[in-house]
Amino acid sequence: MTAKAMKRVLSGIQPTSDSFHLGNYLGAVKQWVDLQDGHDAFYCIVDLHALTIETDPAHFRKRTLASAAQLLALGISPEKSTLFIQSQVPQHNQLGWIMECLTGFGEASRMTQFKDKSSKSGSDRAVVGLFTYPMLQAADILLYQADYVPVGEDQRQHIELTRDLAQRFNTKYGQTFQIPDAYILKTAAKINDLQDATSKMSKSSGSVAGVIEIMDTPESNAKKIKSATTDAGREVRFDEKEKPGISNLLTIHSALSGQSIQAIEKDFEGKGYGDFKSAVADVVVEYFRPIRARALELLEDEANLLSILHDGADKAHAVASQTVAQTYANLGVVK
Ligand code: AMP
Ligand code: TRP
Repeated sequence: MTAKAMKRVLSGIQPTSDSFHLGNYLGAVKQWVDLQDGHDAFYCIVDLHALTIETDPAHFRKRTLASAAQLLALGISPEKSTLFIQSQVPQHNQLGWIMECLTGFGEASRMTQFKDKSSKSGSDRAVVGLFTYPMLQAADILLYQADYVPVGEDQRQHIELTRDLAQRFNTKYGQTFQIPDAYILKTAAKINDLQDATSKMSKSSGSVAGVIEIMDTPESNAKKIKSATTDAGREVRFDEKEKPGISNLLTIHSALSGQSIQAIEKDFEGKGYGDFKSAVADVVVEYFRPIRARALELLEDEANLLSILHDGADKAHAVASQTVAQTYANLGVVK
């Protein structure tokens, strides 16, 4: 299939930590890898979005490169997809401004992610970038005329806004943007914290003990799984209500080993939680061992990594600059 015949997908991820965690992989990046086949995929490390939280320059650089290395090690292929850093394609800022000029103040104020994040830091301390974050995200998507945007349920409202803005612009100024559809990853596993299986595994979790980081050592991750909180009883059975801890471990095992939950339950009939947790630890450790090694190898050769990213930015730029040129022309911007 030629790139033209394929549907285009675009997604983005923030480089906000040294390592992605298991939830990021199973809930997002794994689907990105699957979508590379049969789609014209653009994947963006959204470093400008990450500036909405205060960052240390050395960390910022390191985390951006670490994110790229992990995405490649996890299976994003530069031959199949366009992988790039947002800030290397300045059209994101250019179209971001146009999107801001189309968005109502009230509309932006209703974004739940903004409300959550700004109420956490206190509305006086929240930066304006947090408010305009969804308009930059709309630009990320519309620049590439994306058909589908694979994201988790929490991003649905931002995609709705993007669609509204695209429609508004097209109606006012003539057909310019493809109206994107959210591709909500329903089948993607939702992974919970190992210490508190009723809350989502998250980088902002209070304790690192419940979070499996891809770049963490195999020993540390094995230990975390073996100390995961389990539930009353001793039967390895999927039951999210009565056994959230065991169910979470079953989800993880199944997603990485490819075995069905029933098959795993059957394997552990008559065995205890200890045996089961050791098996899950093995599955996780062996799955990520080569990935971590590959990511570290990519980080060793920074010139090569940067060259992959620059190639991606060149490809992204070719598309994005066309969209901005058309947008400016339709707006009557003097050339
Ligand atoms: P975040 O780390 O919240 O910026 O999320 C990056 C991506 O990972 C988003 O697409 C989320 O939907 C996904 N994600 C984050 N945490 C989890 C989790 N515990 N389970 C499944 N997906 C997750
Ligand atoms: N806001 C998204 C998140 O927090 C990240 C993101 C930025 C994004 N730009 C995007 C996702 C464009 C999809 C498409 O997960």
